[in-house]
Amino acid sequence: MSQPKRYLITAALPYANGLKHIGHLAGAYLPADIYVRYLKAQKRDVVFVCGSDEHGTAIPIQAMKEGTTAQAIIDKYHPIIEQNFKDLGIQFDIYHRTSAPIHHETAQEFFTVLNNNGDLETKDSEQYYDEEAKTFLADRYIKGTCPNCGNENAYGDQCEKCGTALSPDELINPVSTLSGKPPVKKATKHWYLPLNRHEDFLREWIIKEHGNDWRSTVVGQCKSWIDGGLQPRAVTRDLDWGIQVPLPDAKGKVLYVWFDAPIGYISATKQWAIDNNKDWSPYWNDKDTKLVHFIGKDNIVFHCIIFPVMLKLHGNILPANVPANEFMNLEGDKMSTSRNWKLDMQDYIDDFINKENGGSQMADVLRYYLTTIAPETKDSEFTWKGFQDANNSELVSIFGNFVNRAFVLMHKLCGGKVPTYHADLADAADNKLIEDIKAAKETIESLLEQYKFRDALFEVIDLARKGNKYMQDKAPWIVAKQTGEDGNTTESAQKLIDNCLHLCLQLTANLAIFIHPFLPFTAKKMLHLMKVVEKILDWENAGSLKLLSVGYTLRAPELLFRKIEDDEVKAQVEKLQAAAKAKDAEKAQAEASKPVAEKAPAEIKPTIQFDDFAKIDLRVGKIVSAEKVEKADKLLKLQVDLGFETRTIVSGIAMHFKPEEIVGKQVTVVTNLAPRKMRGIESNGMILMAEDASGKLHFVNPDNEVNAGAGVS
Ligand code: 2FM
Ligand code: ZN
Repeated sequence: MSQPKRYLITAALPYANGLKHIGHLAGAYLPADIYVRYLKAQKRDVVFVCGSDEHGTAIPIQAMKEGTTAQAIIDKYHPIIEQNFKDLGIQFDIYHRTSAPIHHETAQEFFTVLNNNGDLETKDSEQYYDEEAKTFLADRYIKGTCPNCGNENAYGDQCEKCGTALSPDELINPVSTLSGKPPVKKATKHWYLPLNRHEDFLREWIIKEHGNDWRSTVVGQCKSWIDGGLQPRAVTRDLDWGIQVPLPDAKGKVLYVWFDAPIGYISATKQWAIDNNKDWSPYWNDKDTKLVHFIGKDNIVFHCIIFPVMLKLHGNILPANVPANEFMNLEGDKMSTSRNWKLDMQDYIDDFINKENGGSQMADVLRYYLTTIAPETKDSEFTWKGFQDANNSELVSIFGNFVNRAFVLMHKLCGGKVPTYHADLADAADNKLIEDIKAAKETIESLLEQYKFRDALFEVIDLARKGNKYMQDKAPWIVAKQTGEDGNTTESAQKLIDNCLHLCLQLTANLAIFIHPFLPFTAKKMLHLMKVVEKILDWENAGSLKLLSVGYTLRAPELLFRKIEDDEVKAQVEKLQAAAKAKDAEKAQAEASKPVAEKAPAEIKPTIQFDDFAKIDLRVGKIVSAEKVEKADKLLKLQVDLGFETRTIVSGIAMHFKPEEIVGKQVTVVTNLAPRKMRGIESNGMILMAEDASGKLHFVNPDNEVNAGAGVS
């Protein structure tokens, strides 16, 4: 296949409303950076754009939380996030902002073109309005009960508990987050992108054209969206934070953040072109440009359906691929900012890079582990133990060990210089290693072109592993013991040593080229040790056995990676648990201190017949033991005596009761509820609880002690 003339690579613009965690890093920025570094090593024409997404309700909501203005929020987080990326070696060509005037102009022009061409529709509709705050409520300003899972804190656009995309109308018992009052409906006009007009195009383009070369997870998600029938999508909002809709009859309305944010890729390219005296236009208009969007799976619909329709209507090129990643979990649970179950890039940088025992090498350790567990085809999991193992048993013991031994032995047995290679003495093992180096180039290249970053990295480590085996088999330190009468190593033995170390050093130089897209700081350190310039990292040099000149003096060995100790990872696990616990306590406190009136009264559930009720088997039980469930702050494991048997029941009451204070208490138990596994423990029943106005839980029990197992009806 012929190569594209140029590449435009994008990584999802993060909201500038708070710190970003390693799930974000692994999802979009790291794979994008690896891909771009590889393309640049191939000397291809590439522009890598990213920047802050500074509109949408996420920003003013954060401002409300921090008691400041939306502008202050973006001005605070934009530079922090930008610096975090730099510290972790993510090298954008531009890190732009959607608050920049050039972006406002670009987004407004985009809207105007679509509107003037008749590609948008307008519709008057009834939307939620907060009479007290005198404002229409954007989706994120409405909370209510999720119709899918019953989560009482679902937002108007999404339930964060079950992941379902929602519209405000679907929420049960909606309340405004501004006033805490139920909102009313009021008429308003909005502009819509009629996606329904483009179903055929999308089906043809995604399923027929890219059904085989895009990730199946991405195609699958798009297919189910299209099959579900596409609806017109509002591209404007009643909000005072965002880009003004450029029409006289649209006062107080702004572009929907998901309309303006992806256009941010274009305005970032424009700004990059201005800064570098280049022309931005071919990057978005010439069919010979390969556009690739790196994103997490929650952004698929926007990048594969909505934005492409906008690009097509506006006359721009379409993405060649959207290699979206699935999610990365953390220590057995979903990463979540609201629950504080996460590892922020900033925390990693503070704890590992900026500490005395750290340095940029530690950025590479994170990059390494995140790539080896990249959620390319399914969700994956970060554990601190896994992080430690990946470092200690792979980076230290395989890659670092090989490079270190090659340097140590070269200094010890070859006078600190690159030894000669005596081709006439080459044996099968030498030739095999040479072949392996050349083959690795082909394999790594092909995997990277297919966005298979974890497999590509595995090949690099495997090559280092082969280097270790080669060195071990050749054992130059033993060959060196073949001495002549003068006590020195014989000439023929020295030649064998030279051959071995010559190849090991050429392999080291190749490893620097291969590892560079993944671990740029390590590659730099290797260049320093080899005393060679960055140019050597050009991909065309990979596979060469002439990277280091014979007789060239190399520096003394330095370890590439340090071991990670048990207490370091233990401290991290404890820190994670403590932070989540503190957040839970904070939420419980906030909930408890809410005035009773602020809590929407729970609506009575639909009427049921007596027969329905009679199906529930309720009994009085007695708690005979209670203990905390490991790694689950909310759960207690109870043994409940029901008279005829003692049951294990897992109950979510740990935040309200200490285990020791509830032993002996009588409770009401639903005994015929299907068993459910929680944290690996089978729970056989449910304890009924009453929640008072402050959110505190109470047992529902008889006013006098009755025999265990007594029926309740
Ligand atoms: O999900 C997010 O974090 C969005 N801010 C991503 C935007 S990507 C692009 F469209 F700008
Ligand atoms: Zn839900």
